[in-house]
Amino acid sequence: MKLAVIGCGYVGLVSGSCLAEAGHDVVATDNDASRIATLQAGKIPIYEPNLDKVLEAVVREGRLRFTADCAEAVRGADIIFICVGTPPTESGAADLSAIDNVARLIAKESRSPKLVIEKSTVPAQTGEQLKRALQVYARDAGAKFRVASNPEFLREGTAVEDFFHPDRIVIGVEDKESEQQLREVYRPILEGKFRCPVHQPDCPPAATPDFVVTTIASAELIKHASNSFLALKISYANVLADLCERLGGNVDEVTRAVGLDPRIGGQFLKAGLGFGGFCLPKDVQAFIKLADSAGIDFGLLKETERVNKQRVDQLLDKVKKALWVMKEKQIGVLGIAFKPNTDDIRLAPAVEVIRRLLAEGAVVRATDPEAMTRARLALPSVHYSADPYEIARGADALLLLTEWEQYRRLDWKQIRVEMARALVIDARNMLRPAEMKALGFEYISFGRPDQVGVTVMQ
Ligand code: UGA
Repeated sequence: MKLAVIGCGYVGLVSGSCLAEAGHDVVATDNDASRIATLQAGKIPIYEPNLDKVLEAVVREGRLRFTADCAEAVRGADIIFICVGTPPTESGAADLSAIDNVARLIAKESRSPKLVIEKSTVPAQTGEQLKRALQVYARDAGAKFRVASNPEFLREGTAVEDFFHPDRIVIGVEDKESEQQLREVYRPILEGKFRCPVHQPDCPPAATPDFVVTTIASAELIKHASNSFLALKISYANVLADLCERLGGNVDEVTRAVGLDPRIGGQFLKAGLGFGGFCLPKDVQAFIKLADSAGIDFGLLKETERVNKQRVDQLLDKVKKALWVMKEKQIGVLGIAFKPNTDDIRLAPAVEVIRRLLAEGAVVRATDPEAMTRARLALPSVHYSADPYEIARGADALLLLTEWEQYRRLDWKQIRVEMARALVIDARNMLRPAEMKALGFEYISFGRPDQVGVTVMQ
């Protein structure tokens, strides 16, 4: 099938490459000509594990190509995936101007029937607006448009595996033909026979995903509802952590046992610094706005957002309590990305923590396996080093802000030797309190015993 992908960000690049790997003929385009030039030169502008392998293979085999000529991409395709950004406006609602621009471009350039699919996260009813824009701006009598929604559930850091082994594929359609076309697009994955190129030989075969066919409005809502529910779970775990600190429980024990109930599930109950990134925070905000505009007060989500915003305050309280005076204190930071296995620092809690430490007059040194290039631009007054031991050298405190697996395996004995004061504040509950204490650290985390300043109710 001839597919066009408009927008070469995280979603567009992963979807375009994987759809090509699944056997389709894909042209990807973006209005950022320098991004296209980078991709045409064989460089990938983002860090996403395994994307390089897939992309390199499909480009080499001629199944995926990049063009800065959006019109050409549109004209040659039967199916067009819109993967442009929908960043938040000042009010928190999603900015749909990029979708609107693409709709007008598709309408203007199309000379034959197209199935136009919204893959970007958009508020409910965007499909209606998209359909209208396509009709109103169409120039050629041969250009007939059908619209569908096909939200993505890819996680940064595991997006390639997620694409090939999804739990579900959701499509919102208005007619049988669109459903059939989308079934055909995903057939290799739905049949479960297709082996993802990053699949290890000893991995169990992936379960066949559910293919969920809904209305367009439902599909749009499913995406918002999924991300918002994940955010709600995280905030719930974080309030439990606060309670554990007051009442003497251990949040890891509590959430583990709670999550064993299949009605609840154990994932996304990890307490700590809260959720960041360019999806959960903005999707929660946009869903609240959408509900407000529909006359529904989504108080649950407002509280989810409030709890999340407080996590950085809670961490800084812990740091201040331990360090007393912040001015000129040497603080080392391990991890800047919003989560491990990505170089993405958008709305990363670590960035906010570092900004606040700098504002208090602390001297901050930081490291991250992938995010330092982006961090240097966002936080130029931080001292960076690729070497975690150098970050620890002479530090009054070491803050673990992103749970990269390699930080667990550091030689913590050596870290202690390097530090001016052996104080570790683990904002992701990654390390074991007893082990850290045994190594001679003052160790602070969220909602677990053996912390500085825990007040146990009598
Ligand atoms: C999220 C969703 O998980 C994807 O399904 C969705 O497709 C994607 O948004 C999107 O809308 O495009 P992502 O933003 O990559 O994916 O990140 P998550 O893995 O959801 O993590 C989000 C944040 O929550 C991170 O900062 C992470 O550290 C935090 N988190 C996650 C916790 O604090 N505790 C947890 O238990 C889990």
